[in-house]
Amino acid sequence: MGKDVIIACDFSSANDVFAFLDKFTGRKPFVKIGMELFYAEGPQIVREIKKRGHKIFLDLKLHDIPNTVKKSMAVLSRLDVDMTNLHASGTVRMMEAAIEGLTRPDGTRPILIAVTQLTSTDQQSMKDDLLIDHPIDEVVMHYAHNAKKAGLDGVVCSPLEAGKVHEVCGKEFVTVTPGVRFADGDVGDQKRVMTPEQAKLIGSDYIVVGRPITAAEDPVAAYERCVKEFVD
Ligand code: C5P
Repeated sequence: MGKDVIIACDFSSANDVFAFLDKFTGRKPFVKIGMELFYAEGPQIVREIKKRGHKIFLDLKLHDIPNTVKKSMAVLSRLDVDMTNLHASGTVRMMEAAIEGLTRPDGTRPILIAVTQLTSTDQQSMKDDLLIDHPIDEVVMHYAHNAKKAGLDGVVCSPLEAGKVHEVCGKEFVTVTPGVRFADGDVGDQKRVMTPEQAKLIGSDYIVVGRPITAAEDPVAAYERCVKEFVD
C-alpha cells in the first residue's frame, strides 16, 4: 500500500467542501468523507468528489448484523469509494460478511479497515460501560488481530499504536492514523498527537489530517507540507 496523506473534509455542506477542493488545482488529494457530510448530502456527494478526480475514504464506521453490513457494503462498493471502514467490535463474522459484500464481481474491492476502540473510549469507560476488564492496549491489539483474521486490510489507530499493530499483524497490515499536527501548529482538542514526519518514522501507512489543512490560511501549502514531511 502506498503512503498517502488523507484530508478529513469535515464540512457540513457540499458548497463548503467544493469551495475547499476548488483550491487544489494541481494534485488531487485523497479525501475522507465522514458521517456529517454524507448524511447531509447523500451518496451524490461521493459521486461528485470522485468525478473531480479524488480518491475517497468513506468513514461511516458500519456496525450491525452481518447480513445488513454485507448488503450495505455492496452499496458502498458500487459507489466506487477507495477505502471504507467498520467497527471491529461487530465480531469477526460481521467483518467477513463486510468483505463479501464489498468484493465486486471482478474480485476487486475498496480497502477495508477497522476501528478498534475509539480514542474517545478510555480504560475507565470501557470497564464501566462495556464491562471489558482487559487493558485497553490489549483490547486494541486483539481487535486488530480479529480484523486481520477476517481478511481486512488494516485498522484506524493512534500514530502511537501503529508500530505495535505492525508488530502484531505484520508490516503489510495497513495503519491509518489521525491525530496529526505540525510541530509549530495548534493541537486543538486532540490529546496524543504526532507530526507527519514522526508518523512516517513510526510506520503509519496513511495519515488523516483535518484542521491543520482545512483551517490553514493556505490549505494547499499546508497539504503540500504534509506530503513533503510524510511521503517524500
Ligand atoms: O481536524 P483533525 O486533524 O483533528 O481531524 C481528524 C479526523 O480524524 C477527524 O475527521 C476525526 O473525526 C478523525 N478521527 C480522529 N480520531 C480517531 C478516529 C477518527 O481524530 N480516533
